[in-house]
Amino acid sequence: MRTSSLLSLSWALALLASSSSLVSADVVEHTFEVANVTVTRLCRDNVIAAVNGIFPGPTIYVREGETIIVHVINNSPYNLTIHWHGVFQLSSQWADGPEYVTQCPVLPGKKYTHKFNITAQEGTLWWHAHTAFFHGWVYGALVIRPRLGHSYPFPKPYKEVPIVLGEWWNANIIEVLEEATKFGNPPRLSDAHTINGLPGPLYNCSQNQTFRLRVRHGKPYMLRIINAALNEHLFFKIARHTFTVAAVDASYTNPYDTDVIVVALGQTVDALLTANQAMDSYFMAATPYQTVNTSVVPVADTTTTGVVVYQDFPD
Ligand SMILES: *[C@@H]1O[C@H](CO)[C@@H](O)[C@H](O)[C@H]1NC(C)=O
Ligand SMILES: *[C@@H]1O[C@H](CO)[C@@H](O)[C@H](O)[C@H]1NC(C)=O
Ligand SMILES: *[C@@H]1O[C@H](CO)[C@@H](O)[C@H](O)[C@H]1NC(C)=O
Ligand SMILES: *[C@@H]1O[C@H](CO)[C@@H](O)[C@H](O)[C@H]1NC(C)=O
Ligand SMILES: *[C@@H]1O[C@H](CO)[C@@H](O)[C@H](O)[C@H]1NC(C)=O
Ligand SMILES: *[C@@H]1O[C@H](CO)[C@@H](O)[C@H](O)[C@H]1NC(C)=O
Repeated sequence: MRTSSLLSLSWALALLASSSSLVSADVVEHTFEVANVTVTRLCRDNVIAAVNGIFPGPTIYVREGETIIVHVINNSPYNLTIHWHGVFQLSSQWADGPEYVTQCPVLPGKKYTHKFNITAQEGTLWWHAHTAFFHGWVYGALVIRPRLGHSYPFPKPYKEVPIVLGEWWNANIIEVLEEATKFGNPPRLSDAHTINGLPGPLYNCSQNQTFRLRVRHGKPYMLRIINAALNEHLFFKIARHTFTVAAVDASYTNPYDTDVIVVALGQTVDALLTANQAMDSYFMAATPYQTVNTSVVPVADTTTTGVVVYQDFPD
């Protein structure tokens, strides 16, 4: 009895040592299983293929200098690759993901493991499917913090919040692109824009699908804004608040203040927001930046909204 419990204790210690060496060795490891899931938006159930059953997919947090390993398991019915948008991929080009550029697609039922280092980049990047329109369902944030012992070139924010802007179709987006290419037309326009996957109350049936950012009065927040839409540059604004832009595309900028941010397609903007207004709720909104004659080139001219809610709550 005594021997066996000692034995199991030493086993437990050995296991603990080996597992902590796995997690502490500056490796960030994830498994992305892409499979069907039913998502309800705009009054409808829609079967989409998403990562680990969540939409948008998981945020990856990493420190500069660390290694990312992602095991992609394609249990969807579609060809798939995952692209690491903006990552330098120094000496790991084959891990970058664009379909038929650095790799063949991962076929349904197959797997692929990405392994690459994050080197000399800090801020926000993101990942997305790089196979036709699959990107509209499969995307998420990649947050790169300074390595241990290094700090941000600005006071540490109280909270960091990914704001991932996207587009939603009341349709199967793989078929949306197939239809378009079959007839040589532009793809049909999206039915909504979204903030962290939620359209917000300007769309039907979406009052309960509104992104809420609960803030504490006086605290600084870092918004990690990503334009993950398929077709449009977007304006982003929060009523009665201004931002200090601190980084773009995982590169620090000279800080500048603005009350509206334009995020180009695929771009990221790190913006500091101080919750310095009266205790109340304030809309945030994102809407397309139109530079074309929309009677010649149609634009999905709809606005997604979320809410910044001032609250007293415990830490
Ligand atoms: C996943 O959804 C697609 C589109 O609705 C459907 O064609 C396919 O059969 C589904 N696959 C599974 C395994 O349920
Ligand atoms: C999936 O990828 C394979 C291998 O490249 C290709 O032969 C096939 O046509 C692709 N399927 C679709 C639907 O694009
Ligand atoms: C990634 O970082 C690890 C640890 O520093 C290093 O051993 C490896 O060679 C790097 N890989 C590449 C492709 O640079
Ligand atoms: C929203 O619902 C109303 C009432 O049912 C309907 O008239 C309108 O067309 C809907 N709008 C959209 C964008 O679907
Ligand atoms: C929103 O949520 C409330 C409370 O849970 C519910 O009564 C209402 O039916 C929901 N509305 C929609 C459009 O889903
Ligand atoms: C936009 O295009 C339409 C159709 O070609 C044309 O009638 C209209 O004058 C254009 N508008 C502007 C502002 O150029």
